Amino acid sequence: MPVRVVVGCQWGDEGKGKIIDLLCALSRIGVVARFQGGANAGHTVVVKSEKYILHLIPSGILHPNVQCYIGNGVVIEPDKLLYEIDLLESKNFQVRNRLAISTNAHVIMPYHIILDKSKESNPNLFIGTTGRGIGPAYVDKVDRIGIRMMDLQSPDLLREKLALNLKLKASHLKRKKVNLDKILQDYLAYGERLQPCLRDVSRLINEDITAGKNILLEGAQGTLLDVDFGTYPYVTSSSPIAGGACTGLGIGPTKIDDVIGVFKAYTTRVGEGPFPTEFLSYFYTERVREWGKEFGATTGRPRRCGWFDGVLARFAARINGLTEMAITKLDVLDRLATVQICTGYHVDGDCCRDLPTDLAIIRDCQPVYEELPGWQQNTTNIREFDKLPKQAQIYLRRIEELVDVPLRLVSVGSERDQTIWCK
Ligand code: GDP
Ligand code: IMO
Ligand code: MG
Repeated sequence: MPVRVVVGCQWGDEGKGKIIDLLCALSRIGVVARFQGGANAGHTVVVKSEKYILHLIPSGILHPNVQCYIGNGVVIEPDKLLYEIDLLESKNFQVRNRLAISTNAHVIMPYHIILDKSKESNPNLFIGTTGRGIGPAYVDKVDRIGIRMMDLQSPDLLREKLALNLKLKASHLKRKKVNLDKILQDYLAYGERLQPCLRDVSRLINEDITAGKNILLEGAQGTLLDVDFGTYPYVTSSSPIAGGACTGLGIGPTKIDDVIGVFKAYTTRVGEGPFPTEFLSYFYTERVREWGKEFGATTGRPRRCGWFDGVLARFAARINGLTEMAITKLDVLDRLATVQICTGYHVDGDCCRDLPTDLAIIRDCQPVYEELPGWQQNTTNIREFDKLPKQAQIYLRRIEELVDVPLRLVSVGSERDQTIWCK
C-alpha cells in the first residue's frame, strides 16, 4: 500500500486540496497528514457546490474513514485550529475523534503575528506574507525558544517560556499591548481543548505504514516558496518540497513510494518576488483572474497570473523527484485564442533551460515562449482525455514532454467529478 506525497509545484494554490480530497474519494486512503506550513495555507475542497477552505486540518477530513494528522513540521495557531474544528463539526463532520496533532508541533503565539505584520510594514523588508506569524514562529523554533503543543499542558513551563520570549522580544514589541497573563490564560485553555488530540504522530504514522495503510502526505504552499530552493527571500519559512514530508512527520525517506506534483495549467503567485512569465497585458491578467477566480483563499488578495513556466516545472520535478503529475484548472484557459508555454529563459543572450539560482537573473531574464493554438471550447464537462479538444491535448502533452514526468490527471473544474484520468 503506497505512501504518496502531494506537493505544490509552483507558488502555491495549485489545487492541492482538490487533488487530496479526490484521491480520498477514489482510493481507500487511511491517513492524510500535513507536514509543514500553518494557517498561511488555504486548501479548497468543493463538494456539490459547497466550498470548504481548510487552513490547518488536512484535506481528507470530509471523508469519514480517513484519519487526519498534523505533523511536527506544522506551526499551529490554536484558536484558528479550534475554529476550523468547530466549523466542520457544525456541518456534521466528526473531527476530534479522527484528528491527531503532534505534541512536537510549534505554536504560533500572538507576538508572532505582531512581529510578522510589523516587519511587513517596513518597505525594505516587505515580502507580502499572509500575516499569520509563520516566519517568526519558525525563527523561534530554529532559535530553540519556541513553544510546542506539549508545552500548553504545563502551566509553569509555559509561563517560564512566555516570560523569556516576551523579554527577548521586548524591544520589538514595545508599543504593542502584550499581556503575559492573558496569553497564558488563553493558551492554557486552547491546550486543554486540544489535549485529547495530542499524539506522537511520528509513531502513529510509522505504525500505519507498517500496517499497510494507504497514506497521503499533504504539502502546503509550493516548491518555489521553499525556504531553501524557492525564490529566496520571497518564500515561506518552511520546506513545502517532498523532502519536507520526512522531517515534518518523522518518516524515513525509504518509506515514500510516490511523489505527485500538482501544477496549474498556467501560473499564479501571491505576494512579492520574481515571476518571469507573469502576464504583461492587463487583458490576460484580468481575464484569467476572473475565469480562474484567482483571489487568495487565506487573505483574499488578487493573485498575480501568467503563462505556464516549463523551466520552473522541470525544476520542481527535479527537486521533488516527481513520479507523476496532475494539472489543474485547464478549463480556465478554455476561451483563449492562443496559449503560450515558457520553454527557457534568455539570459545575457543565451537560452537557459534550468532555473538559475541567482534571484537577480530570474528577475531580469526574458522568457522564451512557444505559442500554441487555443481550443476555444468548454472542457468542464469532459471526462476522458481523448474527448478533449485536440489543441488542449497537444498543450497538455507538450507540458508533459517538457517536464518529463507522466501526466496522470487533468482537472477541469473544482468539483470532484470534474477530473480526467490519463492513461
Ligand atoms: P491549494 O492551496 O493548492 O489547495 O489551492 P487553492 O484552494 O488555494 O486554490 C485553488 C482554487 O482553484 C480553489 O478555489 C479550487 O476550488 C479551484 N480549483 C481546483 N481545481 C480546479 C479546476 O480544475 N478548475 C477550476 N476552474 N477551479 C479549480
Ligand atoms: P497554499 O497551501 C500561495 C506566500 C505568501 C508570501 C510568502 C510568505 O494555499 O498553497 P508567509 O505567510 O508564508 O510567511 O508568506 O508565501 N504564501 C502562499 N502563497 N499559497 C499558499 O499556501 C501560501 N502560503 C504562503 O503570499 O508571498
Ligand atoms: Mg491555497
